[in-house]
Amino acid sequence: MRFPVASSAPVPARRGAPRDANGLAAHVWPEGAHRDAQGRLVVGGVDATTLAERFGTPLYVVDERVARRRAARTRAAFESAAASIGTSATVYYAGKAFLSTAIARWMRDEGLAIDVCTGGELAVALAAGVEPARIGFHGNNKSVREIDRAVEAGVGTIILDSEIEVGRVADAAARAGRVQRVRLRVNSGVHASTHEFLATAHEDQKFGVALGDAVRVGRAIRSHDSLEFLGLHCHIGSQIFDAAGFAESAERLLAAHAELAAVAPVPELNLGGGFGIAYTEADDPRPIEVIAEGIAAAVAEACGRHAVPVPRLAFEPGRSIIGPAGITLYTVGTVKPVPIEGGWRHYVSVDGGMSDNLRTALYGADYTVRLAARTSDERPSLVRVAGKHCESGDIVVDEDWLPHDVGPGDLLAVAATGAYCWSLASNYNHVPRPPVVAVADGRARVIVRGETEADLLARDAGLDDHDDDADGVTA
Ligand code: LLP
Repeated sequence: MRFPVASSAPVPARRGAPRDANGLAAHVWPEGAHRDAQGRLVVGGVDATTLAERFGTPLYVVDERVARRRAARTRAAFESAAASIGTSATVYYAGKAFLSTAIARWMRDEGLAIDVCTGGELAVALAAGVEPARIGFHGNNKSVREIDRAVEAGVGTIILDSEIEVGRVADAAARAGRVQRVRLRVNSGVHASTHEFLATAHEDQKFGVALGDAVRVGRAIRSHDSLEFLGLHCHIGSQIFDAAGFAESAERLLAAHAELAAVAPVPELNLGGGFGIAYTEADDPRPIEVIAEGIAAAVAEACGRHAVPVPRLAFEPGRSIIGPAGITLYTVGTVKPVPIEGGWRHYVSVDGGMSDNLRTALYGADYTVRLAARTSDERPSLVRVAGKHCESGDIVVDEDWLPHDVGPGDLLAVAATGAYCWSLASNYNHVPRPPVVAVADGRARVIVRGETEADLLARDAGLDDHDDDADGVTA
């Protein structure tokens, strides 16, 4: 299909036309992704055409080697930064980014602990065979049932998110006859995202206790025989590109930490996750080693100032480990050029959408899209990749450039979809969720089965209701 030729006037795109609309920027695509002699995108040694033929589209593809390498590299970065200031570090993989039993095992095998934030995530981690002692359990409103289950399972730490939860977890531990290790989540007043952080006196958000209450609540925790207080926790945001916000937050937390340490040792400090990744060529996150060293230096300095021993450190990255390991494949159904000021925008509609990637609609996230089964020498056109849902905000890639001849039947790949895409997926418009395929060493295997229409109907209790006289309420 040929689009009307755009005028030569500049198109008002946030992102300028790329030098090569077939190019795979190394920091955006999974490490090692390349095009084969036929121009097909190859990830984990498997080409996109083969993946689409075998498993259909939309399809989540995760490069197992990349995920494992990123996990191992992150652990090494924090361990060596911690060692350089005379302490140790534990890296928890934040399962909220993307958790299945296979992924939990990859992380466990690479020496990471696992952070879960609901009973459901806990169930997946336990089903994967993760050692309960290597699990940290988060959540701002854990149910008593979830707490009981976590305590009974023997999870290593529960992160207390509120004053009310102190008593709840203490009671659960007492009921189970255990001493539960806990951390206290604190609002450091530091918000961070991408390049900037903002420091406020009070965080206007639901998570954690205010910094000014940390010492008092820490003491309350210590008053319970069934709790063992490990230290403070803080998570300042997500998709953060450098160490400055973490350093500021560590500095603030260490003041409260030092007050608590004056009474009894506080062995740990957990600074959460949030390390950023490249979604587009313009994104330039610092290497994780540089971030780890920056945080460690700030911790050491603050500990010196407050005259407290350097605590063990803990971190909880999710996105930075799994995000860049994933891509999503789609098939183009329709294309439509729309005149906009200064040129044309080409709506390219694919067979998925906000049900498999909500981030664009929810956060205005940016993504990168490329032809996956071929290259083209046609000049680049500004495209908006839209989904198939009944909603105009159903956009997968708001703005990128594809060769001008993109058309029905083309296979597209969207980069860096490994984090918070599958986890945020829905069945909106009764669209079944796509499968997840892991690729490694030229082989592909399903790690999460795709849903079918039978799955969609499986929980629909109306099918069992053959009594037309029933008014819908039965005992
Ligand atoms: N630890 C805690 C306590 C968290 O709340 C989070 C993320 C993490 C660790 C992991 O953060 P990460 O390293 O993945 O940035 N749905 C949003 C992100 C929400 C993050 C919530 N908490 C998105 O798609 O951008």
